[in-house]
Amino acid sequence: MIINFENKITTGKHVLVVPVFEGDFKKDVKELPNKISEFLSKISENKEFSGKKGEKIYTYIEDKNLPEKLLIVGLGKKENFKYRTAKEVGAIIGKQLKVSKAKEATMFLPAAAKNFAEGMFEGLLISQYEIDKLKTKFTKKENNQTEKIRIFTSVEKGLVEKSLEKAKIMADTSEYIKDLVNYPSNIIDTDYLVNEAKKIAKENGYKIEVFRKKELTNMKAGGILAVNQASKKEPGLVVLEYKGAKNKDEKPIAIVGKGIVFDTGGLRIKTGPHMDEMHQDMAGSAVVLGLFKVLKKLNIKKNVVGVAALAENSLGSDSYKPSDIITMLSGITVEINNTDAEGRVVLGDGVAYSLKYNPKSIITIATLTGAVYVAIGHRYSGLIGNNGKMRSELLQAGREADDLGWPLPLHPEYKKAMESKVADIRNNDKETQSIAGSSKGAAFIEKFVDKHDWCHIDIASTAFTDIPKPYETMGATASGFYMLLKFLEKY
Ligand code: BES
Ligand code: MN
Ligand code: ZN
Repeated sequence: MIINFENKITTGKHVLVVPVFEGDFKKDVKELPNKISEFLSKISENKEFSGKKGEKIYTYIEDKNLPEKLLIVGLGKKENFKYRTAKEVGAIIGKQLKVSKAKEATMFLPAAAKNFAEGMFEGLLISQYEIDKLKTKFTKKENNQTEKIRIFTSVEKGLVEKSLEKAKIMADTSEYIKDLVNYPSNIIDTDYLVNEAKKIAKENGYKIEVFRKKELTNMKAGGILAVNQASKKEPGLVVLEYKGAKNKDEKPIAIVGKGIVFDTGGLRIKTGPHMDEMHQDMAGSAVVLGLFKVLKKLNIKKNVVGVAALAENSLGSDSYKPSDIITMLSGITVEINNTDAEGRVVLGDGVAYSLKYNPKSIITIATLTGAVYVAIGHRYSGLIGNNGKMRSELLQAGREADDLGWPLPLHPEYKKAMESKVADIRNNDKETQSIAGSSKGAAFIEKFVDKHDWCHIDIASTAFTDIPKPYETMGATASGFYMLLKFLEKY
């Protein structure tokens, strides 16, 4: 979808989109021909339309100064119009245009909506996302995506242009992350993700380190190696470095993502239909790649180290086995008592490697536990950490970006549950394993963060959805990306 400006309303067979706030319609549309305000007066007098958020009227108009069709969309009350509502309404417009098979449209941007134009554009741009890139001439249908939207507005061009530019970056990156997460592991495998990281490094001039099987063996990254043991493909540990702070020596924030390209559960094989979704178990790493796609473009004023811990939790005669005791990169020994608790094992090595950069703080992001979904449901990612301030800031960033988190506890007893009789720690609790699963997963990771400030984001509840938000589609959501970007921008 291309969005650009026009100074006058082009007439023709396309659709004119007119978003209006609840209440005082006339004032909002004063820049448009009278016909529009007359129409609005009529439908509001007849109580056919009041401007509530998401309310729609789609009709033909006869006026030589206007396009052939008209889509009126309610923005809700002015005082409630924020980033989230703007993004939702943008998406409602985008989805309606698609249903109406509108290839072209002109959207009027009311002056009173200008502060959240970015959200509206972003919603528009991502609303028509489709998972059809692998359909071919045999079955590919015309998907009715809108090709062109012209913005007509009295708002200063500079402001709208800036909003539009940011919205495009956000939408492109959101699509990039969603594609990585939505497409399966025979395509998005460890090699694929390594290559993406290399491309991103090259495009942006970032420093990058890539460790594959040989190097991981030499450095004794026993966690990543054990999880990947039964895979035909090589594991990977990728480290990207961005220096955006004024002081290039400022300590970086390390962001470590889980990158399990497929999680069969290993010998503790996943049963039921749930396994099918496990190509999405690299969503944490996809967020790390997405962030590095935008850090430089958005001129983020921080030093950031991004780590992707990549492996496939496959199964076969080579699999790591329950009762195995492995030595992690940090030297910590781990009793494997559940091969399906693999995310924490690769993250342990990822975190240990990030310490080399002497980070100011560490963030781990992972589809770590099914338990987080049970605990807080599909609208929140779980936030667990050792620093209250950092966690509050992430929660606040999440609220501002409509990418919500919710705090979960780290009680000393949950940490104790990860102790082992035969090794330093174990990767799963035994005695009370049906409770506080997300906290205990995090407690395992905490053993590797040492004394650093750290927060863990469990996106297993949000990374993939069958209950999409108004601006989402089924499948991947890119959750965590918006929260972390806002965090890096503001805190
Ligand atoms: N990748 C899964 C977690 C997951 C579940 C992500 C559902 C997305 C949707 C993770 O590796 C896993 O299997 N976790 C186990 C942990 C348990 C063995 C302690 C789980 O949640 O059952
Ligand atoms: Mn697992
Ligand atoms: Zn997993």
